[in-house]
Amino acid sequence: MNGRGSEGLPAAPGPGAAAQPPGRVLIAGCGYVGVALASQLVTSGERVLALRRGDAPLPEGVERFTADLGKPETLLGLPSDIDRVVYAAAPDASTTDGYRRTYVEGLRHLLAVVGTGPRLVFTSSTAVFAEDEGGVVDEESPTATSGHPAILLEAEALVRAAGGVCLRLGGIYGPGRDRMVRAVVSGTARTPRAPRHGNRIHRDDAASAAAHLLRLPAPDPVYIGVDLDGADLATLYAWVAGELGRPPPPIEDEDGTSGARPSPHKRCTSAKLRASGWQPAYPTFREGYAHALQAARRVAQEAPR
Ligand SMILES: NC(=O)c1ccc[n+]([C@@H]2O[C@H](COP(=O)([O-])OP(=O)(O)OC[C@H]3O[C@@H](n4cnc5c(N)ncnc54)[C@H](OP(=O)(O)O)[C@@H]3O)[C@@H](O)[C@H]2O)c1
Repeated sequence: MNGRGSEGLPAAPGPGAAAQPPGRVLIAGCGYVGVALASQLVTSGERVLALRRGDAPLPEGVERFTADLGKPETLLGLPSDIDRVVYAAAPDASTTDGYRRTYVEGLRHLLAVVGTGPRLVFTSSTAVFAEDEGGVVDEESPTATSGHPAILLEAEALVRAAGGVCLRLGGIYGPGRDRMVRAVVSGTARTPRAPRHGNRIHRDDAASAAAHLLRLPAPDPVYIGVDLDGADLATLYAWVAGELGRPPPPIEDEDGTSGARPSPHKRCTSAKLRASGWQPAYPTFREGYAHALQAARRVAQEAPR
């Protein structure tokens, strides 16, 4: 059911009417990436409505819509001039229930209200790809069939049915999300025995990729959003350590247990997204982590010797 009247869409201008200004962009789930996206869109003159449950601060110029995607009745007051949606909600906990509630049920509830008219971009994950032996992965590569990735794929199926676009993002890092640098600084990082190729994207590039897909004429259903250097973890650790004048982290225990959860091992390519006109501002982790490294150096200098 559409809770916004018979069509749920803004009326098209009549003959001879001046072109309507574009409607609002709804960011459903406005957290780490959503806030960066909201800022970028407002800066480029868009009207942005951020949907989240709480009252956490939003960037200047962003309108707030307080609702819970898990509670369909809270979505009924959504305005009717939404013509683009980015679904960027993430579960509070990495559980099967949390995944299903947030990605599948939340999306279904929202689609029931906004309909299939607005351009929809869904922030999915490169975790949906089955590859785990370090092979190159593109949009056509086989996907997983079980676990959390399968739930994400269920949500992706809803997106495709609604004519939307799935943006499969690598691990998102950036200001305040620099766990890797902190692990090296604190000495808890362990270099894997065997290569583990990860896939990353800076927060601002994840946001700009979503913004790009909102504007792209006739997009495909799936794009991968990662940077240009799917370096393996050992390379990353060694680089961070070198930048901080430290030796690389020790090799993990012989049984391969480093205390950390196993990292993915695939090399995703964003060639298709780049061919469509998107470019990352942080092409590799070297540019992306520069800020975190500066902060780490400052802390090291200020620490008592
Ligand atoms: N983190 C990664 O490395 C990674 C990798 C690949 C893909 N992704 C995807 O990228 C997207 C953005 O990730 P992120 O790091 O920005 O996530 P995040 O910081 O955890 O933000 C998610 C937002 O979703 C909102 N939310 C969750 N449940 C909600 C509900 N029931 N109703 C309304 N809002 C709800 C939360 O807002 P409130 O708490 O204020 O309600 C939160 O602000 C997610 O879809 C995530 O799955 C993330």
